[in-house]
Amino acid sequence: MYMSTDEVRNAFLKFFESKGHQIVESSSLVPHNDPTLLFTNAGMNQFKDCFLGLEKRAYTRATTAQRCVRAGGKHNDLENVGFTARHHTFFEMLGNFSFGDYFKEDAIAFAWEFLTEVLQLPADRLLVTVYETDDEAFDIWNKKIGVPADRIVRIGDKEGGKPYESDNFWQMGDTGPCGPCTEIFYDHGEHIWGGRPGTPEEDGDRFIEIWNNVFMQFNRHADGTMEPLPKPSVDTGMGIERISAIMQGVHSNYEIDVFQKLIKAAADVIGYEDLSNQSLRVIADHIRSCAFLIVDGVMPSNEGRGYVLRRIIRRAVRHGNKLGAQGAFFHKLVGVLAEVMGTAGEELKKQQAVVEKVLRIEEENFGRTLERGMAILNEALDSLEGKELDGETVFKLYDTYGFPADLTNDVAREREFTIDEAGFERAMEQQRQRAREAGQFGTDYNAAIKTDAQSEFCGYAATAGNSAVAAMFVEGEEVESLSAGDKAIVILGETPFYAESGGQCGDTGVLKTQSGLFKVEDTQKLGNAIAHHGVLAEGVLAKGDDVEALVDAQRRAAISLNHSATHLLHAALRQVLGEHVTQKGSLVKPENLRFDFSHLEAVTAEELKEVERLVNAQVRRNHVIETNIMDIESAKQKGAMALFGEKYDDEVRVLSMGDFSTELCGGIHASNTGDIGLFKITSEGGIAAGIRRIEAVTGEAALDAIEAQQAKFEEKLAESAQKAKSLEKEVQKLKDKIAAAESANIMGKAQEINGVKVLVAALDGADSKNLRTMVDDIKNQMGSGVVLLANVTGEKVGLIAGVTKDLTGKVKAGDLVKMVAEQVGGKGGGRPDMAQAGGTDVGALPEAIQSVQPWLEERL
Ligand code: ALA
Repeated sequence: MYMSTDEVRNAFLKFFESKGHQIVESSSLVPHNDPTLLFTNAGMNQFKDCFLGLEKRAYTRATTAQRCVRAGGKHNDLENVGFTARHHTFFEMLGNFSFGDYFKEDAIAFAWEFLTEVLQLPADRLLVTVYETDDEAFDIWNKKIGVPADRIVRIGDKEGGKPYESDNFWQMGDTGPCGPCTEIFYDHGEHIWGGRPGTPEEDGDRFIEIWNNVFMQFNRHADGTMEPLPKPSVDTGMGIERISAIMQGVHSNYEIDVFQKLIKAAADVIGYEDLSNQSLRVIADHIRSCAFLIVDGVMPSNEGRGYVLRRIIRRAVRHGNKLGAQGAFFHKLVGVLAEVMGTAGEELKKQQAVVEKVLRIEEENFGRTLERGMAILNEALDSLEGKELDGETVFKLYDTYGFPADLTNDVAREREFTIDEAGFERAMEQQRQRAREAGQFGTDYNAAIKTDAQSEFCGYAATAGNSAVAAMFVEGEEVESLSAGDKAIVILGETPFYAESGGQCGDTGVLKTQSGLFKVEDTQKLGNAIAHHGVLAEGVLAKGDDVEALVDAQRRAAISLNHSATHLLHAALRQVLGEHVTQKGSLVKPENLRFDFSHLEAVTAEELKEVERLVNAQVRRNHVIETNIMDIESAKQKGAMALFGEKYDDEVRVLSMGDFSTELCGGIHASNTGDIGLFKITSEGGIAAGIRRIEAVTGEAALDAIEAQQAKFEEKLAESAQKAKSLEKEVQKLKDKIAAAESANIMGKAQEINGVKVLVAALDGADSKNLRTMVDDIKNQMGSGVVLLANVTGEKVGLIAGVTKDLTGKVKAGDLVKMVAEQVGGKGGGRPDMAQAGGTDVGALPEAIQSVQPWLEERL
């Protein structure tokens, strides 16, 4: 019976639904609240706290098709991808889970029924393994199901390994839930080489493990101790690609429908013919992990998750280059991927443009690094004394330029050099060691404080409440009492303090008792408890004490305004920029709010203005902010925006503001949108390829921001006025200087009439104030003499005459200027030593000037 991958997925989920399991959506590839895990690597990750008994859900049976990445961390398949038929960086794990509900018997029966009845696999092609000492599982297989004893293999701990280090004892990581397992194998037939599990040939490809059923019984601690779980549970995982291969009658995962289409698409975009090339498989595999990691918010970077993503992209690009790809090609596979993933590709479709852009930029950047690395490699080879390139250089190329060692090797070989592989391996091993240490990824899950205490949150409508101290911790250790000065975590049975979540920061305030005062500096979730972090400021505090819990109400009010405004902003952005806008993160604090979202270009000033106006219009409409609890399906029908990959309970809280915004949210909000008062965007910018960030303020802070802006403008204005004034002064000074220089210049035109110095000159465009200064200057320089300056500005003639005091008896400045002015259509006169006049007949000026000489000759 042929089944497409999409059909296999649906058949699995439907089968377990018919067995009373809740179908739960795949969680994000970035694990929630789990610092011990790099990527989601198994279906059980999102249920970890259910197994540990820390979280209760409305159901005790669940089933999922979980997207997983195994690249880095405990389960790392990256280096095998492309070389085996079945290793992938990304795969989907089909799973069924029991949280203290059914155990071994039902789990085994379900698995058998699904394989042999729904998928109709022949029982004689199936083989199972059990943990060596698990007689119970052995008997269920043998007696209840009827699998012959010779098809049940007992697998013990690895020789020379630690206790429980076995293929049949599954552990999520170095710590956390774990237990013995039973695995189901499919025999692909004699024509393929390989032996049964437990034989020396087990690594061959004939017997393929398809389904692992784990009987979760322990919580493993960092020191190796196994603490029994409150209730034995079941966790199973079946790689969809492997079972699809069987259902499609092929042997390698790369031959199933999904991969065939991806391989074909990769060959097309690269322009390569041979579809059997291994590099095409690598590319087809890698586009899946890269695209889905980006969908879940991971961005290429130089550390942590982002670095793993970057390495996978580079590996893909390098394989493309090997096949002769010209320019960026990898991102062109995103559309095909979204298509072939069927129901699992829906979110990718929505985010396609962003994912493509992130990949394209990363590819282009690596293209540049590739060139630089090549140059460095060629230089290193040029200056090489011997014939072998040292391992350190190979490693440096790998580490700094993202240059894979095999590429370095290829280039070296072409030039008849070799590389020191052992030296490179040594450097790599050191790197791996560092990565392994980093791979622990933060703290040990169990080292984090664990408490069974539960806190009720009573702060949606109140900021004060009475309760009693349920537990207290100092430096991770539970304590019975605190004394003044102790930094501690206090847990109450019931509290109005909001613990940080959904982007909203934790509350601060005080816990008051008759004998002490505890200052709460932050509030965080701790399992099912709410942890007040802070310091005992006064007195003593003991477990069981009655407490008055008082949240800093003003701060809380500011936070709630910002939170409500964040919802309005989200809705407004989708209206103005488009439905592709998805929330990528948010931070709601008392001072301001921050909202990250996917969008390819910078938001224009116009768009920002429109968003701001839209939000403020909704503020003025003063919608009642309504909260309703409903099941997730009804919420979705209501059109509530849910964050993709976010973990929601079955009962969700839906926040609506008129018909403008409907969102799932557990946070605290204002009662009416009008409470926000005013909404003001303070900044917009890019934080990664395709991701923008808006910061904004509300209420009083918005007013403050506007006032501050205005004050800044006024300051700037006053500054400019001041500047203009001093510039004007400077200009005047310069003009005076120029006038002085000019007067010195025109002194050269002076002549003598009857032994008296005379200067007659026409100037262009000097202003009248300057003319006076010039005449004074000229008179001073002459000591004794007569001067007449004419000045033409546009259609006007300006005239000015000066006579030194000793000569005013013979010639009067007023007469001279009058004589000339009359010839140019004007009038004039003035003092004997200095006189000014004007005229309008510019054309008559040259002749009028000519007349000065005879006029003076008569008088001097
Ligand atoms: N958690 C188990 C696995 O990943 C089912 O194999």
